[in-house]
Amino acid sequence: MYYNILNLSKEPFSTSPDPYFLYPSMSHQQALQRLEIAIRLKRGLSLILGDVGIGKTTLARVLVQNLNQDNTIVTHMIFDPTYDSEFQFVAYLAKLFGIRPNFRSALDYKEAIERFLFKRCVDEENIVVLIIDEAQKLSASSLEILRTLLNYETNEYKLLQLVVIGQTELLPKLKRIRNFSDRISLKYMINPFDINETKAMIQFRLKQAGYNSGKGLFSDTAMDMIYQYTQGYPRQIANICHLALEEFLMQERSVVDADLIDEIIERGRKVDLD
Ligand SMILES: Nc1ncnc2c1ncn2[C@@H]1O[C@H](COP(=O)(O)OP(=O)(O)OP(=O)(O)O)[C@@H](O)[C@H]1O
Ligand SMILES: [Mg+2]
Repeated sequence: MYYNILNLSKEPFSTSPDPYFLYPSMSHQQALQRLEIAIRLKRGLSLILGDVGIGKTTLARVLVQNLNQDNTIVTHMIFDPTYDSEFQFVAYLAKLFGIRPNFRSALDYKEAIERFLFKRCVDEENIVVLIIDEAQKLSASSLEILRTLLNYETNEYKLLQLVVIGQTELLPKLKRIRNFSDRISLKYMINPFDINETKAMIQFRLKQAGYNSGKGLFSDTAMDMIYQYTQGYPRQIANICHLALEEFLMQERSVVDADLIDEIIERGRKVDLD
């Protein structure tokens, strides 16, 4: 693997959603801070939107890690909310919350979930958080269930803290459902990096992977080109940096410069055209 040759302990530009590699850009950091405040204030529904490859899943994992530090907060996460029926979704939720036994109807499940939330949040004074990634996949009947769960409340606060994360097409979908968009207490759109953040993210990921040589591996103009090409979208940045490092080693270069990035972009264009 190329990263061993560079004396790195980890792959710096893998595209898996590893919290360890999340560079705290302004947008990512603000999203995390606002979510934590909304959850601690028990405001109910938070919505995080962002384009493909902007870092939503990675952010969700960082949020879970941060919340897990606090043992009064219980966090549950759904990565792919695709369910065939209302019944399947409520049964899944009950299982996720650790509710036993099994019930026969969706209504019984909903009542059991309400009792569970009262016990956990009112009697035991915990905060229960449910994070749903890929929320643009939620069906109308699943959204209806979530709306019901958001109705469970005391005079002061919502029982369930729901964080819904999805691609931008989720917003119009939510707006079509009466009483759902009214309940959104935090709505935050994750933005791509600016040019400085793009450069800082590349350096940050190299450092996290164990790169500690004083000299820059990527020239400044190479990073300018990466920004121009990717417009600050993290997954695209990671992809192009990965290809650049592979090529850098194959060609036994001393630095990733603008020519090398140009070569990779051209090659990518050719593949797109084929
Ligand atoms: N702030 C960041 N710092 C460093 N890398 C990031 C950052 N945000 C995202 N990435 C990287 O971008 C890639 C895509 O991230 P992720 O899978 O979280 O995006 P996503 O928004 O969930 O994408 P999709 O819409 O396809 O589900 C991952 O390699 C991730 O490490
Ligand atoms: Mg994702």
